[in-house]
Amino acid sequence: MIQCRRLGYAALTTGRMNELVRYYEDVIGLVLSHRDEGRAVLSTRQGIECVVLEHGERPELVGISFEISPRVPLEEAQATLGKAGVPAQIRKGRSPSLARVLAFKDPKGTEIELFNSIAFVATDAKDRGINALKLGHVAYFLPAIEETTDFYVDRLGFRKSDWREGRAMFLRCSPDHHTINLFKGEKRLAHLAFEVKDFSELVRASDLLVRNDFPLDWGPARHTIGHNCACYHQNPDGIRTELYAEMDQMKDEELGYFDPRPWHEDRPQRPRNWETEDSPRNKWIPGVP
Ligand SMILES: [Fe+2]
Repeated sequence: MIQCRRLGYAALTTGRMNELVRYYEDVIGLVLSHRDEGRAVLSTRQGIECVVLEHGERPELVGISFEISPRVPLEEAQATLGKAGVPAQIRKGRSPSLARVLAFKDPKGTEIELFNSIAFVATDAKDRGINALKLGHVAYFLPAIEETTDFYVDRLGFRKSDWREGRAMFLRCSPDHHTINLFKGEKRLAHLAFEVKDFSELVRASDLLVRNDFPLDWGPARHTIGHNCACYHQNPDGIRTELYAEMDQMKDEELGYFDPRPWHEDRPQRPRNWETEDSPRNKWIPGVP
């Protein structure tokens, strides 16, 4: 089976390329690592590509990439998907560092690119704006979440971390509690989330966002599902953007519980359905949705 190991980049279309590039550089603290007529690639200060912007009429998520084991040839992954009835093509990736990817669509129509080798891009590593460490997860609304959940679990090796039956699913492909979340609703991108190093960086980031006219529209919060501290704002295209720290970690899949933390409800904290539990989305202000 194919086993995704890490989220690479999210590819977004935009009608405001220059404004978006400035926002990701000056506010989120990414580096413009590549630009040509068609697209801009933004990377973390540590040299990981994480956002690809392409020209388009409206803001939309058009693709996401995942790193798989370097020991699995793309041809083998292509054959595995083919046997499951998923057509996939080997081609160039969206960024200069990805010479070869395996591309196919998930059931909701988002293009997935798998890659098995990566080159870090050169950056000056100087601090500017918020120091986003990585693109941590992509959250998506769709009318029925079951088929896409099964696809990520059965075809791409994701595990179910926590869920609200029929309404929300949080899936992991690494120790991080979630890399993909699916919510029941009208089909659209829900949010992109960047990890920052700790809560103090989240506070600094919130001040910086407000100073740059990006007020928070939710948070600061500590979630129940995933237990990450988070704050949310909208990027210049109106795409909800989360910054977070202290997400639950499944450090040992065989043991099957999340690394214990003081704010956990359960001891040990294992994957479960939260639908019937008292689980406010913000533990700090339970009455606020
Ligand atoms: Fe999130």
